[in-house]
Amino acid sequence: MFYEPSKGHGLPHDPSKAIVAPRPIGWISTLNRAGEINLAPYSFFNAVSTRPFIVWFSSEGEKDSASFAQETGEFVANLVSRDLAEKMNRTSVNAPRGVNEFVYADLAMAPSRLVAPPRVAAAPAALECKVTEVFRPKALDGSPTSAVIVAGEVVGVHIDDAFLTDGRSTSPKPAMSPV
Ligand SMILES: Cc1cc2nc3c(=O)[nH]c(=O)nc-3n(C[C@H](O)[C@H](O)[C@H](O)COP(=O)(O)O)c2cc1C
Repeated sequence: MFYEPSKGHGLPHDPSKAIVAPRPIGWISTLNRAGEINLAPYSFFNAVSTRPFIVWFSSEGEKDSASFAQETGEFVANLVSRDLAEKMNRTSVNAPRGVNEFVYADLAMAPSRLVAPPRVAAAPAALECKVTEVFRPKALDGSPTSAVIVAGEVVGVHIDDAFLTDGRSTSPKPAMSPV
């Protein structure tokens, strides 16, 4: 089949997310100026540069993770192994602002070193990031979309030593977003 996304696909489900899949999940922890902690998964997430090490995530609509990151200029991108998938899913709850999803999903926090938001203690890796850019991608006709892309330079990297073998880091079975 062929379809033009702006004209519809005629299928019962939108295939766009399934086409670009699987995707890694950035499990984004943030803190706002009031000190409220937030944790949520973002599969519109990836690393986009190595030197400097830059990652970004995209919020469809300005959700708490994007607004907290903009407020304080910091976020942590925790990586999700498959054994954490269920808890990661729980943290996608549409909770009112101020609800700490670490507590809601029964996840231990660990302090970060160079940024204020805590990280997920059990995550195989966690990237401490400082926001470098926030932008709203435009549609072809120049109209604004609802997406907010938050990019950050990784200023600190945590790797669980269990995943270091002979100086190389190996990946645990990742939890990926299938669609
Ligand atoms: C596996 C998974 C991936 C997700 N990826 C995204 C994403 O890339 N962008 C987005 O806006 N929402 C995504 N969501 C939904 C958000 O996690 C959800 O809306 C959450 O409540 C946002 O929390 P926040 O307002 O605390 O940032 C995803 C949910 C799950 C379970």
